[in-house]
Amino acid sequence: MHKNILNISDLNRNDLFKIIEYAGSLNVENQKILNNKHIGLIFEKYSTRTRLSFNIGIKDLGGDPIDIKFEELNIQRIESFEDTFKIFNLYLDAIVYRTSDHNKLTNASKYFNKPIINALSDISHPCQIISDLYTLKENFNFLEGLKISWLGDLNNVLFSLMEAVNLIPEIELNVFTSEKLHKNLINFPDTKNTNFLFDLDDNIIFNSHCIMTDVYNSMNDDVTINKDSLLKKFQVNEKLIEKTNDKCVFMHCLPANINSEVTKGVIEGNKSIVLKQAKNRLIAQKGILKWLEI
Ligand code: CP
Ligand code: NVA
Repeated sequence: MHKNILNISDLNRNDLFKIIEYAGSLNVENQKILNNKHIGLIFEKYSTRTRLSFNIGIKDLGGDPIDIKFEELNIQRIESFEDTFKIFNLYLDAIVYRTSDHNKLTNASKYFNKPIINALSDISHPCQIISDLYTLKENFNFLEGLKISWLGDLNNVLFSLMEAVNLIPEIELNVFTSEKLHKNLINFPDTKNTNFLFDLDDNIIFNSHCIMTDVYNSMNDDVTINKDSLLKKFQVNEKLIEKTNDKCVFMHCLPANINSEVTKGVIEGNKSIVLKQAKNRLIAQKGILKWLEI
């Protein structure tokens, strides 16, 4: 049976730690584990980091990344989604797929009988969180016992973080957000290890190892409410960072919307590890590719 990563919940705790361990070893030395493997890359939405890190990661491991543009396929004319993915089976050994509709990923996995990797959907962004856990482990040397504060929107990146925290319940996750957004939350992971807070708490902020945020409007969102005003008090700015301890780091998956969820001073400040985080996407993708046993 082949493996997929559509969500972090496709993994168990051991899998997650294994991927992080593989990433670390492939960072030291590339292994040509993807020799003769053709991997399709489908990006229906914008991407800089995920696109480049998968392309380069596949090449570094000896594989052949193939950029598939839906607009150039017969799926645009007469061929169905189902038949298109059945045909992919005949040529490709795995698929990396970014889409605005998570159901398309689930459907694709019904017709394509080899590994599929979710490169971001409206629901989740598992590769980002796997990479961020790698970065946190690299920075602190441990994951169990970490206290992470997420400030802002309730989105795909947070969804995957919550799923990861469910696998590593020794991580404390505090989510500072608006009560209105929380009320509208549907189909989010079981929240047994996540605390939702609707006001800043200086004590929690001070004890955090990591302050994390993301854009208030994700690329797949219907922008119907003004989140900038709803989430104003949770902006990660210099005043908020002053409340953190000396070892605390600031993380953001990028791209950032400067002066919305974060200020330029913070993202470029001395607690920010966002560039390290972006660079580590390449290392983490290699760990993912190895774990999938393509
Ligand atoms: N963080 C992330 O997934 O970036 P891209 O959208 O540029 O791939
Ligand atoms: N939440 C963001 C993440 C981008 C990498 C989005 O979906 O647009």
